[in-house]
Amino acid sequence: MKGLFRQAGKALKHLELVLILRIRDIYNILMAARREPPAFSSELEEFREIWERAGKRTDISDHLITLFIETLMQKPRLIVELGTRGGDSTFVLERAAKLCRAKFISVDIEDCAQVSKYPDWIFVQKDDIQFAREFKSWCRTHGLEPAIDLLFIDTSHEYNHTLQEIHSWFPWLAERGKVLFHDTNLKYFNFRNDHSMDIGWNNQRGVIRALEEYFGCQFNEKHNFTGVRKNWLIKHWPNCCGLTVLERWGRK
Ligand SMILES: C[S@@+](CC[C@H](N)C(=O)[O-])C[C@H]1O[C@@H](n2cnc3c(N)ncnc32)[C@H](O)[C@@H]1O
Repeated sequence: MKGLFRQAGKALKHLELVLILRIRDIYNILMAARREPPAFSSELEEFREIWERAGKRTDISDHLITLFIETLMQKPRLIVELGTRGGDSTFVLERAAKLCRAKFISVDIEDCAQVSKYPDWIFVQKDDIQFAREFKSWCRTHGLEPAIDLLFIDTSHEYNHTLQEIHSWFPWLAERGKVLFHDTNLKYFNFRNDHSMDIGWNNQRGVIRALEEYFGCQFNEKHNFTGVRKNWLIKHWPNCCGLTVLERWGRK
């Protein structure tokens, strides 16, 4: 009897998920505005490729162009990405790396070694906190200076883990390093700029709460904001699960 109830429970959960996904699809068909074409045709092929990729709606698609521009503006020599998965952010960062002739390291606990073909890309399959502990000696053996110009963080989205990432990776930032966090406004229902919607999960404000802890203040991640705190210039966009950029303003 118990087994029967368990099976019925599982079937109901599955049905609920299917229903929610259907509602999302119907909502997106009814509500989604047409994607605006670019205001002019960019002469940079990489820009056009990223624009094309961002046309496929994902949990990060709204931020791909911003990620590209923020990276180019940084003129990085070393880029580190924490969290690779299917490689949306990797696609962007490898193009920026190519244009800036930067070394590019991606880290994930899963095997994502096939995601990029960029010759100066190194994939490290490891827990990112463990890798941060080995980063200095790892850089030495790879002939690199452990000074990260651009750090992109998009992993578990959990509060404790994000805090650990901040404390483990920030010491390896270059004097004028920049950090981008995705999922700083993650919720069950997440909306993009074109009003389309995606299903996420409630991470109890994990990433933004870790940033609040680090900066010793509160953020309203549901709105755009910019400001300066602890010698960091902070910029935030709430759409598409949220993106927050930290740029060193003063000395370390
Ligand atoms: C949201 S996905 C990354 C998406 C990717 N940035 C993109 O744009 O397609 C999160 C990834 O973080 C990885 N991850 C989770 N916890 C990790 C950890 N402790 N160390 C390294 N990678 C981790 C997962 O395996 C997963 O592939």
